[in-house]
Parts: sequence; C-alpha cells; structure tokens
Amino acid sequence: MCQVCHGKDGIAKLEEAPNLAGQKESYLVKALMDYKTGARQNEQMAVVASGLEDADIADVAAYYASIPFKVGP
Ligand code: HEC
Repeated sequence: MCQVCHGKDGIAKLEEAPNLAGQKESYLVKALMDYKTGARQNEQMAVVASGLEDADIADVAAYYASIPFKVGP
C-alpha cells in the first residue's frame, strides 16, 4: 500500500510525498507512531497509519531503512 505514494524502492511517486529510501529506521518508526497517535497531523498518513499494528510499523520501517541510498557530493 505504501508504494503507491512512496514507491517500492522508496523514491516517492507523488510530488507531495517524501522519499523514504535509506531513511533512519528509528525516525520512520517515530513518524509512523506520531501519525497514528495524532501527534503529527496529515490527512493521508493518518488514514494509512491508523491501520498499522506496531509490528507492521517495525516491518515497513526496517524495509525502507534497508534500501541503499547514495548521495553525491
Ligand atoms: C496516499 C499516499 C500515501 C500513502 C498510501 C502512504 N503515504 Fe506516507 N506520506 C504521504 C505524504 C503526502 C506524506 C507527507 C505528510 C506530511 O507532510 O507530514 C507522507 C509521510 C510519510 C512519512 C514521514 C516521512 C518524513 O520524512 O517525515 C513516513 C515515515 C511515511 N509516510 C510512511 C508511509 C508508510 C510506511 C506507508 C505504508 C504503510 C505510507 N507512508 C503510505 C503519502 C502517503
């Protein structure tokens, strides 16, 4: 479900969605928990995060964090 907006490879397909490839795992977990609790507000992500169990959040965070991402000079 995430790939529609964030891409399977973590490079966003929507102009307004952030790239997630190579992002820090703990940052991804925190962001998803914050959308779920409402501490961070965004209409689209609130809908998505409300359907995620803690184990799902850990899994998707590990997935996107594991994608190698290189940044040029
Ligand atoms: C309908 C499009 C859509 C879908 C589906 C979607 N997202 Fe998002 N996501 C967004 C948008 C737009 C934002 C930026 C929201 C904001 O400004 O806070 C975002 C933000 C995020 C962020 C915060 C990134 C950052 O840099 O702070 C994370 C993490 C994230 N999404 C993970 C996911 C995961 C994991 C899924 C699947 C379970 C998912 N998203 C599904 C559109 C989507």
